[in-house]
Amino acid sequence: MQSISATPVLEYTAQIAAATAPIFERVKHVIPQVEWPVHAPYIAEIERLKKERNAVVLAHNYQTPEIFHGVADLSGDSLALARLAAETDADVIVLCGVHFMAETAKILNPGKTVLIPDLKAGCSLAESITGADVRLLRQRYPGVPVVTYVNTSAEVKAECDICCTSANAVEVVESLGAERVIFLPDEYLGQYVATQTDVELILWQGHCEVHERFTAAEIRSYRSGHQDVVVLAHPECPQDVLAEADYVGSTSGMIGYVGDHKPSRVVMITECSMSDNVAVEHPDVEFVRPCNLCPHMKRITLPKILHSLQTMTHAVEVAPQVAERARRSVERMLEVGRGVGR
Ligand code: 13P
Ligand code: SF4
Repeated sequence: MQSISATPVLEYTAQIAAATAPIFERVKHVIPQVEWPVHAPYIAEIERLKKERNAVVLAHNYQTPEIFHGVADLSGDSLALARLAAETDADVIVLCGVHFMAETAKILNPGKTVLIPDLKAGCSLAESITGADVRLLRQRYPGVPVVTYVNTSAEVKAECDICCTSANAVEVVESLGAERVIFLPDEYLGQYVATQTDVELILWQGHCEVHERFTAAEIRSYRSGHQDVVVLAHPECPQDVLAEADYVGSTSGMIGYVGDHKPSRVVMITECSMSDNVAVEHPDVEFVRPCNLCPHMKRITLPKILHSLQTMTHAVEVAPQVAERARRSVERMLEVGRGVGR
């Protein structure tokens, strides 16, 4: 392993305060001042190590603001992270998100080191299905193409025809030119896609443990007393919740909506940190903040990112035979976005 210079004691010095002051200026209305002396030394040290390692930090939209605005070089929804991972020149990718996102980055960059700061950062959707389940479905529905959400293991991606994310699911399903498609594993995303296309979908009963907790009554309660509130919802929510929303889209779709429409008051029916991260860019928008935390995303912290860069752990590996087949599914998805399709 490449040797790395010794880590200084993490103290909040005047030098670190000055170096991180521009970041704090941006995030000060979502991160209390009292917390900054804790975050700032980690941010400064992570920045130093990123340069030594030629590393890039990719962060999902659900990462906490001190990560998202403090150390991320690139950020976005699952689709953007896959695209960015495919394009980076860095030697090391630190994926601040959940395991399937790091695996996707590794599948697209077999020659690079891809690190995840906490190996236990999983996903209830990814855990709902195995490669053996997909093989059984293929036996049951011979000839029917299989689309799998990227929120799955590499083993599942290897068994499918093409991947999709919440941002491109309808486009991917329609790109196949089939009358019937097996759509895995998110039942609610599948139900939403079915409302947007004539393609018949065969669904699996996987759910996101964060989005399935929202209820339609809860959404109505945010509207009562705030007639002007705009409700943006992620398609991993149940159908009756989506029926109450003004807009349904991926995490980046929701961010785009706020930027384009600049609503005076908005509620994002998704993971907690989204509103904090978007509020940094839109101080004039009032965010009503319902809070459903993703416990997996929240496993990633600044100390763990630093440890990851210091020790080059945890390196994500995918068996070459699995990676090769999974890469075909991910690359085919990326081609649909470029208009190559079929
Ligand atoms: P996005 O691709 O919309 O960011 O969704 C990923 C995810 O895990 C949502 O729960
Ligand atoms: Fe998985 Fe849901 Fe967490 Fe997204 S929010 S990573 S879908 S458990």
